[in-house]
Amino acid sequence: MDRIEIKGTKVFRGEVTPPPDKSISHRAVFFSSLAKGTGSVRNFLRAQDTLSTMHAFRSLGVDIRDDGQVMIVTGKGIHGLSEPSDVINCGNSGTTIRLLSGVLSGNPFFSVLTGDDSLRSRPMARVITPLSRMGAVITARAGDRYPPLAIRGGGLKPLSYEMPMASAQVKSSILLAGLYAGGETVVTEPARSRDHTERMLPAFGADLRVDGLNVTVRGGRDLSPVDIVVPGDISSAAFFMVAALVIPGAEVMIRNVCINPTRTGIIEALRSMGAVMKTENVRDISGEPVADIYCRGEAGLKSVEIGGEIVPSLIDEFPILCVAAALADGVTTIRGAEELRVKESDRIAAMAAELRKMGVEIEEFPDGLSIRGTGRLTPAVVESHGDHRIAMAMTVAGLAAEGVTVIQGASAVGISFPDFFDMIGRCSS
Ligand code: S3P
Repeated sequence: MDRIEIKGTKVFRGEVTPPPDKSISHRAVFFSSLAKGTGSVRNFLRAQDTLSTMHAFRSLGVDIRDDGQVMIVTGKGIHGLSEPSDVINCGNSGTTIRLLSGVLSGNPFFSVLTGDDSLRSRPMARVITPLSRMGAVITARAGDRYPPLAIRGGGLKPLSYEMPMASAQVKSSILLAGLYAGGETVVTEPARSRDHTERMLPAFGADLRVDGLNVTVRGGRDLSPVDIVVPGDISSAAFFMVAALVIPGAEVMIRNVCINPTRTGIIEALRSMGAVMKTENVRDISGEPVADIYCRGEAGLKSVEIGGEIVPSLIDEFPILCVAAALADGVTTIRGAEELRVKESDRIAAMAAELRKMGVEIEEFPDGLSIRGTGRLTPAVVESHGDHRIAMAMTVAGLAAEGVTVIQGASAVGISFPDFFDMIGRCSS
């Protein structure tokens, strides 16, 4: 299944429920593992990235049972983890390695974190610098920049830290280390990144407060278990939104989508491109707003200019936004998105290369790209670059093309969305 053929389609309709949110699933396992006692996680995302987090905590001595329905986690408290007997492999998951670095910095033992080829080329100085200032001893490959990371933690002091980039992984890593430091640790972001940690940690009893772009945690408190229900992932839903909007006459109802305002930049961007999208049945699940989203491919999309504060709120949706732009009327410009260069792949270079193969005119900038919309995409043989979101974005491009597009490296979808091709098949047949 590493090579998949996608036939262009004129039909795209149905009702879909996206997989559980990846960021929230990771955090549910992290915080439950650090709590003292037994809690549960329902609708946990069973995909490669979040399973990396589950395996990591098992190797730190946490009892995690999963019958495929409910995950039961019996944590031993923030000071109850034990030294792992081997290197911890975080796979492809940046969230696992960066958040775990924060936790392990607080623990007085030795641990080594590594990952796959992609993860071992992603920047880690962004967590090593603040965690070292708090007192952890961390060394890493290539001048302390890339995994593997070797950590000897313990004896942390609190920190006030201005983050150079908006990153929920860096913010969460420092806040988790802050749980182990006596006193107040404060992180300040240049723009607001996703706030799932800030919403969920207080439910476990952490002393945490948010004041504008500052988040403060007071260390030294035990966490207590909570029963968490994970809502659906807007980042996975986005592929269905765009498919519905670029295929004329298409229509989908996407159920149970987390619409946390730090994640909804894609809805805002698509609406400003003229998309017909309705948000219905808004409710609360485990402290997160959730809704059903109806999308209809009624009128064609028009181009848009993206940059500034909206960028962190659609950071994972840029690959699919590029596909929407490729099919919109006019030139779409994306700037201020240099973080895309250090994701699971260089997503600026990857989307430019793959959409060009389908006949799209694209200019690349260090921090974004401009895409001239075209009425029709030419089918091609395209690559996922080992990146789940590139594989899924190019699948939607293939659906909108006339003819057969081949996606090489299609199995990358298993990182966040194992049922992706089945769900696409159901809507397009
Ligand atoms: C995530 C944060 C984002 C996002 C990633 C998940 C998280 O990364 O791209 O997919 O769960 O905290 P950055 O923190 O690097 O922006």
